[in-house]
Amino acid sequence: MEIKCWFDKDTNTFTYCVYDGVTLDAVVIDSVWNFDQASGTLKKTSIECVKDFIETMCLKLHYILETHAHADHVTGAQPLKKIFPAAKIGVGTRILEVQKVFKSILNLGEKFFVDGRQFDELFVDGDEFKAGSLNLKVIATPGHTPACVSYLIGDAVFVGDALFMPDYGTGRCDFPDGNAAALFNSIQKLYGLSDSTRVFTGHDYMPNGRPTSWESTIKTQKRDNIQLTGETTKEQFVALRQARDKTLTAPKLLFPSIQINIAAGHLPQNEENGKSYLKLPITIVEL
Ligand SMILES: [Fe+2]
Repeated sequence: MEIKCWFDKDTNTFTYCVYDGVTLDAVVIDSVWNFDQASGTLKKTSIECVKDFIETMCLKLHYILETHAHADHVTGAQPLKKIFPAAKIGVGTRILEVQKVFKSILNLGEKFFVDGRQFDELFVDGDEFKAGSLNLKVIATPGHTPACVSYLIGDAVFVGDALFMPDYGTGRCDFPDGNAAALFNSIQKLYGLSDSTRVFTGHDYMPNGRPTSWESTIKTQKRDNIQLTGETTKEQFVALRQARDKTLTAPKLLFPSIQINIAAGHLPQNEENGKSYLKLPITIVEL
């Protein structure tokens, strides 16, 4: 099993292509459609890198997987599926909860369905499935969002925003239905994997100016994660996570990203002038 990784500097996001170098079967995890909010422009710069790699390597793309509905970047699932129509878009089944809550927040109307139909496959905890010769197992890892899942492929686990590199910690738990205690329980599941399991994170923020890093192991996470080692109690973690979350501002692309990502990367339906528009709920804060 081989792993190719790309880093999107604008959103600090990793996209992975996992493939069998012999059979050429492949999956892509957490793709990015580059979005410039100021101009409302979507560009396929990152998608082109993934496409070129898949085509150059003659890979067979079976799945376009999401670890969750991201709030910091727009998924590239739809443009990728357009290029590779046989690939199925998969996400955790609790995406239905995320769809419901954001349908309400964004007042998306009757035409926005909250039964997950925008995706090809909805996974539950423990699901095992094949992508050609690759065997994948789904580990539900809610906490950052209720729909978060990790994908275990061979000796590698792709954890999305459950775990970052050990010197950065864990994903925030202050989005709607995020839950620090749930994230603690999810990480205990990950820490129950073999020590040698390789951990591939969804983002890196390069603390203290160190080079971009994306790979650790369960052993190093349990030993060194600055927010949650193998010894940290649930109470300690929840207190620390909640205190940290109080200091965080909303991600820059929260509403554009979530609006598109809960629809599996589909843009809102074109209006009568042939253009698609995003919604931004306004909150007035009294001083
Ligand atoms: Fe996230």
